Amino acid sequence: MKIVFVASEANPFIKTGGLGDVVYSLAAEFANLDHEVAIILPFYNRIKENITSSLEQVGRFSVDLSWRKAECKIFYTQYRRINYFFLDNDRYFNRRNIYGEQDDGERFAFLSLASLKLMKDFNLAPDIVHVHDWQVGMIPCLLKESHDDYFSKTKSILTIHNPAFQGTFERDYILDLYSLPDYVYDDGAIRLNDRVSTLKAGIMYADRITTVSPTHKNELLTTEGRGLEGALRLREYDFVGILNGIDYNEFSPSTDKAISSNYTIDDYYNAKQVNKETLLKRFNLRNLGLPVYGLVSRLTWQKGIDLVIPMIRNLVHRGCNFVILGSGEYELEQQFEQLRREFPYNVGIYIGYSDELAHLIYAGSDFFLMPSLFEPCGLSQMISQRYGTLPIVRKTGGLNDSVICYDNHNEDKANGFGFSPNSVEEFIRTVSFSFEIYWNLPLRKKLMKNALNTDNSWVKSAAEYLKVYKDALGIK
Ligand code: GLC
Repeated sequence: MKIVFVASEANPFIKTGGLGDVVYSLAAEFANLDHEVAIILPFYNRIKENITSSLEQVGRFSVDLSWRKAECKIFYTQYRRINYFFLDNDRYFNRRNIYGEQDDGERFAFLSLASLKLMKDFNLAPDIVHVHDWQVGMIPCLLKESHDDYFSKTKSILTIHNPAFQGTFERDYILDLYSLPDYVYDDGAIRLNDRVSTLKAGIMYADRITTVSPTHKNELLTTEGRGLEGALRLREYDFVGILNGIDYNEFSPSTDKAISSNYTIDDYYNAKQVNKETLLKRFNLRNLGLPVYGLVSRLTWQKGIDLVIPMIRNLVHRGCNFVILGSGEYELEQQFEQLRREFPYNVGIYIGYSDELAHLIYAGSDFFLMPSLFEPCGLSQMISQRYGTLPIVRKTGGLNDSVICYDNHNEDKANGFGFSPNSVEEFIRTVSFSFEIYWNLPLRKKLMKNALNTDNSWVKSAAEYLKVYKDALGIK
């Protein structure tokens, strides 16, 4: 099958969150299965600054955004059998930020329009155009409204990774950029609260819609639709929840170069102790005999970070170690700094991002904290399982689908801990419960083994995506 992904980020070139991981690792799985896969990305200056391999310029054209003409150079490379195309335009992508610029509507309109032009000019002849999140949500609408013979057999898929960002803009501005007729707005297809929503446009026009876990699909249809539930209910029969996988090459305790001691399910316990020791030293913490609770996350409200701070205050006196890596809202960063000052031997913080340190936290922690307020899928809980570290999660979205929570009776399959109402008390209760289990070594080892045995690879999920593609194409 010929599959083209269009997204605002993809590893290994540009990533600000889980979207970048998923776009890349799903594409890599398709390439493994011998499908022809391309990913189209903006050529941000951040990519230009960090790039080590050489990219080849393979063409140029100009793109019409209604009356505006924008020049576009096309760069190309192949990585793990994925064809990457980069759309280069300095005015739109030579910026400090990837997102949050005043003219995001126009910048991603350029990405959307130029992508379609590229597919035609380079004759990619896609069976499937798979777009991700609001930035490229207009593509399914453009495909349908253009009535272009070239795309007559092409089907479009939208995946919703984060419904909190809906791409809302002024009506006239958007219609004008894309030269779309008034009726696409007037009949409500791309309208949300009297503005345009590019995410809603994707929902209404894509041939199939997916989100990144079955639980989140149900949440989107009911309590957490954020205004999109009406549109999603209209499309309910074309809407599927598919749990993400993680990249088993990138996250592999048996070969990981960032950790002190590699391991498999046969020798994990002692190796994890060695990694724990390294981790504690890195943060100048001392209590090797006591549990380490790790956290790798953007420090934002979505991730439930406001629950973490009072929880640590409550439990730090038991001597536990807390290791936190991330950056985000200034207020939250400051509160963590304050905790470190108060409890320098129990709390370690790294504000910023370091891949290497993240891997060490996954490998060297006993438990991994993920109390997200909402979480369409979440990847860190799966990564920690892969390293035999037990996740402690709020039972929401993909966390609910990927963690079997220990409840005193299910030691044969439990691979983590969970709590449900979003409250500090519930979180503290659950972390305290994990602290008790920490001292029951046979049970803890059993749960760690279950985590190590959990299959979070892409194999199953990629097969489900292919089913959705085939269904859209009418192939058996
Ligand atoms: C978004 C979601 C996260 C998901 C990721 C990849 O970042 O918030 O839950 O894991 O996309 O799909």
